[in-house]
Amino acid sequence: MKRQIIMTCALPYANGPIHLGHMLEHIEADIYARFQKMNGHDCIFICADDTHGTPIMIKAREQGITPEQLIGKSHAEHVKDFEDFSIGFDHYGSTNSEENKKLCELFFERMSAKKNVHKKAIEQLYCEHDKMFLPDRFVKGTCPKCSSKDQYGDSCDVCGATYSPQDLKDPGCSICGTKPVKRKSDHIFFRLNDYKSYLQEWLPNHTAPEISKKMSEWFNEDLRDWDISRDEPYFGFAIPGEPGKYFYVWVDAPMGYVSSLDQWAKKNGRKLDDLWSKNSAYEIYHFIGKDIVYFHTLFWPALLQSADFKSPTRVNVHGHIMVNGEKMSKSKGTFISTRVYLNHLDPQFLRYYYATKINGSVDDMDLNMDDFASRVNSDLVGKIVNLASRGAQMLSKKMDGVMSTPDADGLVVLKKIDAQADQIAKLYDSRDIAKATTLIREMAELTNKYFDEKAPWKTVETESEKTKQVLTTTLNAFRKLAVFLKPVLPKMAEQVYQLLNEKTPAGSYVWDDYKTTLSNHKIADYVHLAGRVDTEKVKSMIEEQKQIYAATAKPKVAVAAPKAEKASGPAAEIEFEDFDKIDLRIGEIIEAEEIKEADKLLRLKVSLGDGVTKQIISGIKQAYKPETLVGRKVLICANLKPRKMKFGMSEGMVIAAGDGGSDLFLLSPDTGAKTGSRAK
Ligand code: MSP
Ligand code: ZN
Repeated sequence: MKRQIIMTCALPYANGPIHLGHMLEHIEADIYARFQKMNGHDCIFICADDTHGTPIMIKAREQGITPEQLIGKSHAEHVKDFEDFSIGFDHYGSTNSEENKKLCELFFERMSAKKNVHKKAIEQLYCEHDKMFLPDRFVKGTCPKCSSKDQYGDSCDVCGATYSPQDLKDPGCSICGTKPVKRKSDHIFFRLNDYKSYLQEWLPNHTAPEISKKMSEWFNEDLRDWDISRDEPYFGFAIPGEPGKYFYVWVDAPMGYVSSLDQWAKKNGRKLDDLWSKNSAYEIYHFIGKDIVYFHTLFWPALLQSADFKSPTRVNVHGHIMVNGEKMSKSKGTFISTRVYLNHLDPQFLRYYYATKINGSVDDMDLNMDDFASRVNSDLVGKIVNLASRGAQMLSKKMDGVMSTPDADGLVVLKKIDAQADQIAKLYDSRDIAKATTLIREMAELTNKYFDEKAPWKTVETESEKTKQVLTTTLNAFRKLAVFLKPVLPKMAEQVYQLLNEKTPAGSYVWDDYKTTLSNHKIADYVHLAGRVDTEKVKSMIEEQKQIYAATAKPKVAVAAPKAEKASGPAAEIEFEDFDKIDLRIGEIIEAEEIKEADKLLRLKVSLGDGVTKQIISGIKQAYKPETLVGRKVLICANLKPRKMKFGMSEGMVIAAGDGGSDLFLLSPDTGAKTGSRAK
C-alpha cells in the first residue's frame, strides 16, 4: 500500500554555515526519504532555516546589516550546500515567512482560547547600555562554583556547573561589558503541565525507548510553565495584543515545519489541511539531534495538541558527530563547514561513510579522518565500485560491449543478492543504515570472489563466450548493489544507469529494478565512477578551515582597552636595538568618533604626514570626548602590527599614560613638532 509521509530535519540556525555535524542528520533523513520515494511512497521532505532570536539579531548588528539581510545570505548558502550534497528537500523554507507568522498567530489564538497561556512578571538581567534583556548566553562573568572567568550565564565550561545568570560573580553584558541590572517585566507562559498526562501517554509510542525513558524523568514532578515571550528588541513575530512582546524563537521554529509544508502545498496545488491537520492520514517524522529532544518531545507535541494539530508519528533522534574522537573544534579546524568540505572532497564519500555509521541509536558517532579514508577507499571504491570497472572495462574495451547471460555459478550469486533485498529494505526503513551497507558490502565481496575464481582476464582472448558470461554476471550484480545503494549514493546510481545504457519507464532506478537481470544488452562506453579519498586533500581541507577560523575569530572587546596595569618599577633592561624597533611618531588626529557598541573605544583617523593615514581603535573613550581630539597632535606607535578587532582594523596605537578608564592621559609634543616626524 502506498504510504503518505511527511519528513523534516531540524531547522538549522541562520546565523552560521552548515557544517558536517548538521550533515549527519540531513544525510540520514535524505537516505530515508529517497528510500521511501524509490518504493513509490508519497513522501514530502521538508526543511527551513530557523531565523529568529537574539543571536541572529546581535550578529547582524555586529556586521552592520539587517537581520533580514543576514538570514537572506544564509538561506542562499544553505540551499546551495544541501543541493551540492544531493539532499533532496521538496521544499526549503524560512521561519521568517508570512505563512509562519499566520500560523504562530493561529496557534496562539487556540492556546489562549483553551486558557493554556497566562501572564506573570519575572525578573531578568537587563543591559542599560544596549537597552535589552539579556538571555543567559549574553551574560558573562565568573563562575560562582569554581571562579573560572569569562563563563556564560547558564553554565560553566570549566567545571560544568549550571546556574542562573543572577548567580554569576561580576556579571557583564557580553555585547558591551556593562554590568547588567535586574529588571521586572511581564512574560507569557504556556502551561505545559496541562498536557502532562497527554505527553506521558504519547511519549513511549512515538520515540525510541531510550529517549522516552529519559524524558519520563520529567514526569516525576509537575511540568514547569514554559516562557514563550521575549521583550523587544527582538527579531521575531510580535504577539498579537501584547505590545512590545514577541514569540520566543523556539515557539515559531517548530511551526516552521508546518508553514514550510504549507509553502510546498501552495506550490504544488495541495492544501495544508489535507497534509498536516488533526486527522491527516500522513505519517509525520522528525529527524533531530539529541540536544533538542526536550523541545520536540514535550513542548512541540503539547503545542500541537493545544492548537488541534496532529502530533508527530515519530521523533527520530540521533547522536552527535565527533571528529577524530573529540568535539568539533574551531581552532583545530575540525568544525568543518559543508562548503569547505566540498572545496576538497566528493560529497558521496561522506554520504557513504555516514551511512556506515547510522544505526538509529543516540550514541555519538566519530568522523575519524583516517577511518573515513580507509573505509571509502577499501570498501566503497575497492569493493563496490571496483565491480563496475572489472565488468564494464573488459566488456567495452576488449569485447563488443554487449552482455550475454550469466553462467550457472553467476545465477547463484545473483540469487543470493536478490535474497537480501527485503532485509536491506527493512533495515533502511528502520534506520539501521549501517547494517544495510554491511549487507551490500558483503554482497560485493561475494561477487568479487566469484570474479576472482573465474579469472576472466585469463580467458578473454581464448574463450569469449565464457568470459562474457562472467562479465554479465558481474555487471548485473553490481547493478543490483547500485540500486540498493541509491538512497545513499543517488549520483552514482544515475551514473550506473547511464553506464548500463538503461531505458526504464521511470527514467532512473526504482527499488524493484533490482529484480530484473540485463542480458544480451549493449552497455555504454566505460566511464570512471569514483576516485579515491586523497589524504592530502583531507589535510588541506582542515588547513583551510583553520585559516577561516583564524581570520574571523573575534578578539575579545576587553583586549582592545588598555590594560589597567598599576605603574610599578621600571621594566627589565632592553638593548638599544630593541628600542629602535619601535617606530614612535608624531601623529595628528584628523577624525574621532565614538564606537557606540563599545564602552571604552573610540575610532580615530590619524595622519602621519605625506598623505599617510591610519585607523586606530583606541581605548580612551572614558577619558576623552571625540570632538576635543580632532586637530590634536599625539604620540603614535606607527609600526604596530595591524590587528582585526570587532569594530574594524586597528593599525597602530596612541600612546597614553595612566591606569585606564577615565584615568588616561595622552602625550603631546611641544609646539612646532611636525606631523610624521619620528620620536627617538
Ligand atoms: N534551530 C534549532 C532547531 C530548531 S527545529 C524546530 C537548532 N539548530 S542547529 O543548527 O543548532 O542544529 C540543527 C540540527 O543539527 C539539530 O538536530 C542538531 O542536533 C544537529 N546537529 C548540530 N551539530 C551536530 C553534530 N555535531 N552532530 C550531529 N548533529 C548535530 O538546534
Ligand atoms: Zn550591553
